[in-house]
Amino acid sequence: MKTLIKNGRIVTAVDDYLGDIFIDGETISAVGKNLTMAADKTIDAKDKLVIPGGIDAHTHMDMPFGGTVSADDFRTGTLAAAHGGTTTIVDFAIQTKGQSIMEALDTWHEKAAGKTAIDYGFHMIVTDLPHDRVGELKRLINTEGVTSFKMFMAYPGVLLVDDATIYRAMSVAGEHGALVCMHAENGVVINEIIDRAIKEGKTGPKFHALTRPTKAEAEGVNRSIALAEMAGSPVYIVHLSCYDALRKVQEARDLGIPAFAETCPQYLFLDYSYYEKENFEGAKYVMTPPLREKWNQDELWTGLRMNDLQVISTDHCPFCFKEQKELGKDDFRKIPNGGPGVEHRMSLVYNGGVVGGRISVNRFVEITSTNPAKLFGLFPKKGTIAPGSDADIVIFDPSKKQKISASTHHMNVDYSCYEGFEVQGVSETVLSRGKVVIENGKYVGKAGDGKFIKRSTIDLNSGRSSSEQMREPALARR
Ligand code: URP
Ligand code: ZN
Ligand code: ZN
Repeated sequence: MKTLIKNGRIVTAVDDYLGDIFIDGETISAVGKNLTMAADKTIDAKDKLVIPGGIDAHTHMDMPFGGTVSADDFRTGTLAAAHGGTTTIVDFAIQTKGQSIMEALDTWHEKAAGKTAIDYGFHMIVTDLPHDRVGELKRLINTEGVTSFKMFMAYPGVLLVDDATIYRAMSVAGEHGALVCMHAENGVVINEIIDRAIKEGKTGPKFHALTRPTKAEAEGVNRSIALAEMAGSPVYIVHLSCYDALRKVQEARDLGIPAFAETCPQYLFLDYSYYEKENFEGAKYVMTPPLREKWNQDELWTGLRMNDLQVISTDHCPFCFKEQKELGKDDFRKIPNGGPGVEHRMSLVYNGGVVGGRISVNRFVEITSTNPAKLFGLFPKKGTIAPGSDADIVIFDPSKKQKISASTHHMNVDYSCYEGFEVQGVSETVLSRGKVVIENGKYVGKAGDGKFIKRSTIDLNSGRSSSEQMREPALARR
């Protein structure tokens, strides 16, 4: 199949020009002005942005958590992602305590194979790493294409790992070109605070937030970075939510330490006040870290502008309000943690960032696609528009407006965190490896179009090749 995209405004992390793209099979074959190759299909992109497909480096499809399972599986979750202009997800496989890491990977392959609308990769959540399992970690990196792991400093007794385990995993990551993603919150102290709250009869959803102070997140970030430094490895902080935590990343980057971090739309557009909603509706926003006081949002945008935050992912982990969130009706500890978001990331960030005048259109592409591709070993196969790259392309209408609602979204969940939000900037047509999967807003693909992508290793310690710019500390402070 040969496809010609004509007259679009092609935007990458560094370019912005009018031009055409010729796709031959699954990859981009040529980019230029007035291309005249014969094609099976021509797409007119006049007045549209033509951008690399979004990469959401943080999703939880079909994930057992909090006594239930996340509401989107790989079919519904990736279909929703495609509608929103995301063409690759990196989802979290989980090793349960004592389980073989390879067995955990097989389980996630079984969950996803043949179901997805778009391409996908896996991170591995490591919950248990005795010395005799270290070989499995090396095999993940060197042969299975799983070049990042997540570890938790939160959820004692369930997912939390001790500092020795984190240090051990980081040492392997540093040596073999992988990246450790940290859930950075001091969960041991948080549990003390939670126990006290429960004794005082504080059981409503807002106490989820009030028992997880920003200092607990900042302490986790600080410790993650110190452990990574000792282990000689880079570190990537997931779902960073607040200024206290951001400052720790800024300090490290100013010292030239390879510390990276993502934030998520919920921390940029929602805030603590959502927990005060009546009729248990605050439970819809119970996620970890929690939503913070509104003033943090401006600081996060500054972090995104100054490259102290490199990525916006969603942490898509949906649970229905009915029956799932309701598990915690009488006790916030039983509300499954997480919220939906995979579908609207690109529109929310474009609207809040570019339309809102906070970031440039190039930075929009960089933080939603190029940087996650570089950090997670997908670049330049994905994350840019160039000859040889996968033809993962979004024709994005920068003027069109859309009202977000659970009544129209494609995620398999009965509410939206952004119900009623009007956003400007909508993904219109989406190509995944050269195949149109969304055409003028309609899904025209099929389950199984997407395939597992083995990701490369990347040397974020050396500052060579594509990782070089990822290490740049914020210009303003040099
Ligand atoms: O509340 C959240 N974030 N749920 C998903 C699991 C995690 O910690 O990322
Ligand atoms: Zn987490
Ligand atoms: Zn997560």
